[in-house]
Amino acid sequence: MPTKQADTRRYLVPINTASTQQLFTDCLVIGAGIAGLRAALEAAQDCNVTLLCKGTLSDSNTWNAQGGVASVLAKTDSFEAHIADTLKTGGGIADTAVVERVIKEGPALVRQLDEWGTSFDRVDGQIDITREGGHCHARIAHAHGDSTGRGIAESLIRRVREVSTINIVENFYAIDLLTDKKNECIGVIGQRPSGSLQIIWAGATLLATGGAGRLYRETTNPECATADGLGMAWRAGAVLRDMEFMQFHPTTLYIAGASRALVTETLRGEGAILRDGDGEPFMKEYDPAGELAPRDVVSRAILDRMLKTGATHVYLDICHFDKRHFQRRFPLISELCESFDIDVSKDLIPVRPSAHYMIGGVKADKDAATNIGRLFVCGEVASTGLHGANRLGSNSLLEGLVFGKIAGQSAVSIVNGAKPQYYPMEVAVPPSDRSRLDAEDVRNSLRALMWRNVGITRQQTPLNEAAEIITFWQRYVMDKVFTAPFGWECQNMLTVARLMAHAANERKESRGVHYRQDYKERDNKNFAKHIELKRE
Ligand code: FUM
Repeated sequence: MPTKQADTRRYLVPINTASTQQLFTDCLVIGAGIAGLRAALEAAQDCNVTLLCKGTLSDSNTWNAQGGVASVLAKTDSFEAHIADTLKTGGGIADTAVVERVIKEGPALVRQLDEWGTSFDRVDGQIDITREGGHCHARIAHAHGDSTGRGIAESLIRRVREVSTINIVENFYAIDLLTDKKNECIGVIGQRPSGSLQIIWAGATLLATGGAGRLYRETTNPECATADGLGMAWRAGAVLRDMEFMQFHPTTLYIAGASRALVTETLRGEGAILRDGDGEPFMKEYDPAGELAPRDVVSRAILDRMLKTGATHVYLDICHFDKRHFQRRFPLISELCESFDIDVSKDLIPVRPSAHYMIGGVKADKDAATNIGRLFVCGEVASTGLHGANRLGSNSLLEGLVFGKIAGQSAVSIVNGAKPQYYPMEVAVPPSDRSRLDAEDVRNSLRALMWRNVGITRQQTPLNEAAEIITFWQRYVMDKVFTAPFGWECQNMLTVARLMAHAANERKESRGVHYRQDYKERDNKNFAKHIELKRE
């Protein structure tokens, strides 16, 4: 991938190690969703851990997850079936060994979460499981109805707070990974809540910073999902893989002027029907599995229906649900609908697709290791090969658990030989001679551009235009030194958006979540492979 002139800086801020506050830790975990929390707990059994969090511990995609965590928990289900579903949905490029490992290690870790206090919903004493699109069997464990992510996060957070070897630092913005001459990651530079810069030297660094949904105008993701980890890893020289694969969730509540909110897929798993503006069900016209088709198929079907009918959204019909059961089983959505005066026993819920999950990420091997020494990745920021070209619903919390544990173990395996050490660095950043663009304007325009040009369906000219426009903005934004997260986030968003537009243009076929209107078929001869990008 050619590094554009505007994007050549290794660090976003000038660095002078001699005059910056310092902290030393065996293992540094950046990010506190399910993967970061699970990794910290694993590593803390054998070394001291510093757990950094951009906001508070409750600001994560995990916290917002509704549906659940997929795992083989029923006697009538099997590993083979879950593996087959995952591989089929992955569009031919999922890594079979990784799929097998994650699925086989999953049930024990889900049960461990239950023991740690997640309190999964139960039927007759057994963990209750439900279905989602693409799964041939009910295998989605859920907690507090549709607040599974919150249930999981709360139990993990309680636990990390109890462990004396974990030092939690909230409201710390990690700006850049620090690397030495041997291409090893030696820590991070970031901004403390007080506003001052701090360097944290680490024996092992684990990146678990989550995804990039905020690169899109329409998204289910919270404000923190601004691709920071991907941007940091890119500048440090990590290999980024599958950046064209952004997963869109079919059903986000659409109320003009209000922020978007996820409407869980398990509603469709439990019988909700999609209807167009005329009240007609339409999914069977697009896929024999109807409402339970994989997400990419449902998202494109909705988009097609919206275009054909000139509507801004379609509807989810749950009028036939028992209202009391719905309120108990889906309390979050029930409350959400009530807050907009939607009476689900007679009103349809307006929905449309939006950006949901970044499948691509920092390339990781089976031990969560990257091409940068002493740097490990887990969770949404990582590309482990589990999802291939398309993620099966609720497989991501599962991946976070399994790879969080693996990454924690990998960190421990190196920390004895890799003590955190001071490393003298002086990096200057030349002053910019270009005018300053308003970072808020750039971010808003970027999100609209990504939605329009690098969205659910793609084609060459809009992709080329997106890359050109992003490069133009980069010229004015990447050469500045910001002093607060809003600006650094904007720089990361631009960097990652350009990589996504580039990869989407490179993949001249349709596979998984990546749909090219100008190359509608899958091209196994040329593209049954990953697209990897690395800074020159
Ligand atoms: O629809 C949902 O509840 C989303 C689940 C997921 O993204 O895994």
